[in-house]
Amino acid sequence: MAVQDLVDPFGRTIRDLRISVTDRCNFRCTYCMPEEGMQWVPRSEVLTFEEIERVARLFVERFGVDGIRLTGGEPTMRAHLPVLVSKLAALGVDMALTTNAATFRHHAHELREAGLRRVNISLDTLDREKFERMTRRDELVRVLDGIDAALEAGFAPVKINAVVQRGVNDDEIVALATFGRERGVEMRFIEFMPLDASGHWLHDDVVGQDEIVARLSEAFELDPVPARGAAPADRWRYGDADELAAKGRGGGAMVGVIPTVTKPFCGDCDRVRLTADGQFRTCLFETREFDVRDVLRSGGSDDDLAALIERAVGTKWAGHQIGQVTFVKPRRTMSQIGG
Ligand code: GTP
Ligand code: 5AD
Ligand code: SF4
Repeated sequence: MAVQDLVDPFGRTIRDLRISVTDRCNFRCTYCMPEEGMQWVPRSEVLTFEEIERVARLFVERFGVDGIRLTGGEPTMRAHLPVLVSKLAALGVDMALTTNAATFRHHAHELREAGLRRVNISLDTLDREKFERMTRRDELVRVLDGIDAALEAGFAPVKINAVVQRGVNDDEIVALATFGRERGVEMRFIEFMPLDASGHWLHDDVVGQDEIVARLSEAFELDPVPARGAAPADRWRYGDADELAAKGRGGGAMVGVIPTVTKPFCGDCDRVRLTADGQFRTCLFETREFDVRDVLRSGGSDDDLAALIERAVGTKWAGHQIGQVTFVKPRRTMSQIGG
């Protein structure tokens, strides 16, 4: 069957599928989950690997999607994840994983063998006490070791995500960038988004891209990299990128910012999402979901699945409304949507 582009009402072609494989997590980051009282999706409602593979295959083979990202919760909490990775690797498209890396020392080798090539790791601070305050777990040492394990296992690139919150970790922007340069990993700073479980997000807590770049520019020479395409991150190359590469740290030659709040990139968005319980979402901030699991479990054909997906993509909006009175926070937290 010829590939049939999935085009939304604003002319954007869908190319990237983000799949959450579990809503569970071993951390409780304050910007993502409450300390206690998360209601986990019952196991019977979580998509099986066969169901995930079926949906992913349809996206790749029928709709020409060329990128798959596995997220959580914390995706490595899903038992036998390498089995899923090898099934999806067979689809032959770019595949990546976003992880907190606390247990990556145990998982890196097997995931690499299963066909995973690249990972993005969350790390918001290099200070152990602050790490514990932000994630509610004393796991900084293991996360740093997880980053080493990812590099040793040959993942490339390894990117590091830091959510920047004013008055919490914005004093560490230069230190985190330095860490990226020294370890040969690409550091990316993420503007704090209103998806926190507590609903305490305030516009004033967001450290915007311009401010992040201004702070970096005081310490480093930065050259903007044009053509971000559909990717969420704007990127800069360090003035001494060639020297970093010569020292074997070429992976740390760039730094990025994901500016959801101050410079939304929705106009170029090519992403859709599948939650762990099989709900299809056309945006991180959507309040509406489409029940893919129901089609899968009621004997629906691939044409039925495709019809639901096309209908859903037909509702994709122009962009989120953060900062406007019309903004309605999604019912689910980031950990349930998949980041
Ligand atoms: P690469 O393919 O490596 O560039 O990955 P990525 O940046 O798309 O993935 P990652 O999971 O590392 O996400 C980094 C941050 O970007 C997270 O905070 C995501 O929630 C955010 N992000 C990813 N996709 C979107 C999106 O469509 N909209 C918004 N606003 N944020 C997104
Ligand atoms: N704002 C911005 N980024 C967030 N993440 C989780 N919650 C938020 C939030 N409220 C990030 C994680 C991880 C990625 C999947 O999403 O740090 O890097
Ligand atoms: Fe877990 Fe990631 Fe959410 Fe932190 S941001 S609680 S690591 S899912």
